[in-house]
Amino acid sequence: MRDLGRLASEWRRKDLLDVDELSRRELEIILEAASEMKELLARSEIPPLLSGTLVVNLFFEPSTRTMISFDRAARMLGAQIVNATAGALSVRKGESLLDTIKTLEGLGAGIIVMRHSSSGAPYLAARHTSSSVINAGDGTHAHPTQALLDLFTLKEHLADIEGRKIVIVGDILHSRVARSDIWAFAKFGAKLTLCAPPVLLPRRLEGFPPLEIAHDLDEALWGASAVIMLRMQFERMRGLPLPLDEYRRLYKLAPERLRKSDLLIMHPGPVNEGIEISSELVRSPNSLIHRQVQNGIPVRMAVLFLLRAGRREG
Ligand code: NCD
Repeated sequence: MRDLGRLASEWRRKDLLDVDELSRRELEIILEAASEMKELLARSEIPPLLSGTLVVNLFFEPSTRTMISFDRAARMLGAQIVNATAGALSVRKGESLLDTIKTLEGLGAGIIVMRHSSSGAPYLAARHTSSSVINAGDGTHAHPTQALLDLFTLKEHLADIEGRKIVIVGDILHSRVARSDIWAFAKFGAKLTLCAPPVLLPRRLEGFPPLEIAHDLDEALWGASAVIMLRMQFERMRGLPLPLDEYRRLYKLAPERLRKSDLLIMHPGPVNEGIEISSELVRSPNSLIHRQVQNGIPVRMAVLFLLRAGRREG
């Protein structure tokens, strides 16, 4: 508890929009606060640190894990939470995004957790409201809380990730998780390799931290400590970039590819079992996939707490 107060006193930001803008110290503050939250959860001793705060989950795109874990995290901390999904909102009646944000601010929202199909939408919202805005996924751009929970989960298993090889595989072109993961892991000194067919890689990678690019999965996995498999985001493609059978043959993570028995396997979910990863690996002892989902709650509790308490202290 005392540690949480100390961490909050160091926090200055109103919003969490992506990890690229966070310093290594800011990332450490979030990870430390998440560890504290995890301990409190284990002891079932969570003080109502967010009582009196209204959190609005404003989701313009479908979500299971992210929305439910923000809901759980906010409730655990004693906040009030409203879940607003696209179909139920007045945007259907022509209200603009900024009208919606202003309305939520007027209704007393302290924190707006926002998912939107347009890259940059939460940045626009954050500039026009005094409420804190958390980016819960914007188009193909960023998904900072997913990257934070990925970092937290991997650091639980590999205390130091400095110099470790981490391979991100699959539909990188459409993946906001990949973009945020790259920043999060690079800030802790990991060596990142992106592995995908050329059609599923972004055309330009300038501005990113140093990255290795690979097209051959077996070669890419050589010497790796962890692999992050990504979902084929069919809903963002205008036609399949390569036949699915071909994709499976070249890029599916299957037991016969695993030469190293201690390779840690991650996936942000939702998983297309049998396409990017075989079902038995999802549930294998080296898979951190279930742990990632579980860690979503303490990590999001930490973020909600810091944005709220940090501002009170600051
Ligand atoms: C991801 C997302 O929505 O960006 N899922 C998630 O939040 N866990 C990845 C995906 O949809 O494939």
